[in-house]
Amino acid sequence: MKAKIAVFASGEGTNLQALIDAQKSGKIKNGEIALVISDKADAYALTRAQDFAIPFFAVTVKERGDFEREVLGLLARYGIDLIVLAGFMRLLSADFAGRYKNRIINVHPSLIPAFCGKGFYGLKVHEQVLKSGVKITGATAHYVNEITDGGEIILQKAVKVKKGDTPQTLQQRVKERAEWKILPQAVEKICKSIAGGK
Ligand code: GRF
Repeated sequence: MKAKIAVFASGEGTNLQALIDAQKSGKIKNGEIALVISDKADAYALTRAQDFAIPFFAVTVKERGDFEREVLGLLARYGIDLIVLAGFMRLLSADFAGRYKNRIINVHPSLIPAFCGKGFYGLKVHEQVLKSGVKITGATAHYVNEITDGGEIILQKAVKVKKGDTPQTLQQRVKERAEWKILPQAVEKICKSIAGGK
């Protein structure tokens, strides 16, 4: 039986799209995206879910306890095995992470442990990369625990920083060359082990 995947996304959802495409093309074959959750009602990720006929929900309650209770209810209702954070901007509590130990993964747009942790999100990561002068950056798929960007690393891919890059051009290259590749690979790897045990 295939593992059931929930994708959490707050924004554009290009990583969600990469997962949908990988499922369509058979690169993800041991899992299926069964649910998409956003904390933003207007996230384009929800439109992508709708276009692919995946059940989707905007959970916009502000208080963390209420938010997580609602989300946990949805995860149980859809029998979710694996949670994928794909540009999800809300921090999850240690209690939530503990309930899905080794079953939550995230994609971060740098080579962890560089340019990660508190304050390193979205374009800020790429701004700091450019400021530092490093010539190589990349992306990391990792497990999620109670420490921001602190869980075990699953896959990484390096990307060159080019002369004249802006945070925006670098962000796009890191997405295209690294994130959209390693995230589906990491998902398939974990789904294979979950599906094998089902
Ligand atoms: C990606 O850069 C991801 O690494 C970070 O947030 C961004 C989300 O982009 N966590 P998208 O919504 O998947 O296009």
